Amino acid sequence: MSLPPEFLGRLALIEEALRRALAEGPAELVRMSRYVLGWEDADGRPSAGGGKRLRPLLCLEVAAAAGADPAQALPGAVAVELVHNFSLVHDDIQDGDALRHGRPTAWQVVGAPQAINLGNFLYTRGLRQLADSRLPGAPLALAILFEAVERMVAGQWADIAFEDAESVTEEDYLAMVEGKTGALLGAAAGIGAALAGAPRGTVDAFRAWGERLGLAFQVQDDYLGAWGDAAATGKSTSSDIARRKKTLPVVFALASDGSGDALRAIYRAAPAPEDDTAKVLELLETSGAREHTRALARRFSAEAEALLADIAIADDARDRLRTFARFIAERDR
Ligand code: IPE
Ligand code: IPE
Ligand code: MG
Ligand code: MG
Repeated sequence: MSLPPEFLGRLALIEEALRRALAEGPAELVRMSRYVLGWEDADGRPSAGGGKRLRPLLCLEVAAAAGADPAQALPGAVAVELVHNFSLVHDDIQDGDALRHGRPTAWQVVGAPQAINLGNFLYTRGLRQLADSRLPGAPLALAILFEAVERMVAGQWADIAFEDAESVTEEDYLAMVEGKTGALLGAAAGIGAALAGAPRGTVDAFRAWGERLGLAFQVQDDYLGAWGDAAATGKSTSSDIARRKKTLPVVFALASDGSGDALRAIYRAAPAPEDDTAKVLELLETSGAREHTRALARRFSAEAEALLADIAIADDARDRLRTFARFIAERDR
């Protein structure tokens, strides 16, 4: 499922603003930022690639739904996308992943120490978009972003700590995901409303909606991490397993009567002596984890729709947000 065409216009607006935000600065850091954003290959030649820009789109869509010219929310959209890319650059070091968007990850290109610098650069560049903005809603938007980054980092901490934990419950998993992924999607939506000048209650309602959507989004990410098409996602379908990540399907299978003991035995014997992805996938499959994961993504998506139904906006604006949200939850890349 690709992005519905009615959203493409705003995507162009976002790309232009991102390019402006990274037009100047320390040469090596700007060059590698352009690589991470997908505009250039590692040698600086123009290329196509990069992420889906879901968070900045969310930000602009919410601003429009709240009655503003969506362009007004561009500083927020750029901020969340750069902060997101900062988190991906560091995440790929943390997860030891060599591939993103079908290309070598930043740390594969410049080494982990410089990739840490690059992540930090993207982070501050992101924050400055809001810090330099004179919009009345900018201080609130910045406060929302700061809080989200703290929660995201705490979520990343939990995600990594879970790699070595014997028992992770679905409740533990969901608390972790609310931080690592939900917080920034919630912030993207809340910032859109804040920059549109919406009342505080509306800002908070959009934030809560975006966060639910973030849960659906991450559960789907876990699904794709095991059963996705690597050619479409541009990410490995074995690295979560090799890394012993406590993704939702794994958490579910570990707690199941049928597959739990066998999976625990495999996961205890770290590091894996050989590639045991196929064996693990078989255990996930027989446990029913695949259906459970899809069902949970659908549940969070439905919960997000219910939250959206209660926000006071025009019906056509709500329809548009609902279409966008369904795309986020049902994506295949
Ligand atoms: C990936 O997010 C990281 C998660 C929080 C799951 P996206 O799938 O939105 O990444 P890009 O921006 O499209 O690469
Ligand atoms: C990424 O989570 C979350 C953040 C970067 C904050 P994952 O590690 O699950 O996402 P992918 O699969 O690498 O994109
Ligand atoms: Mg990762
Ligand atoms: Mg990770």
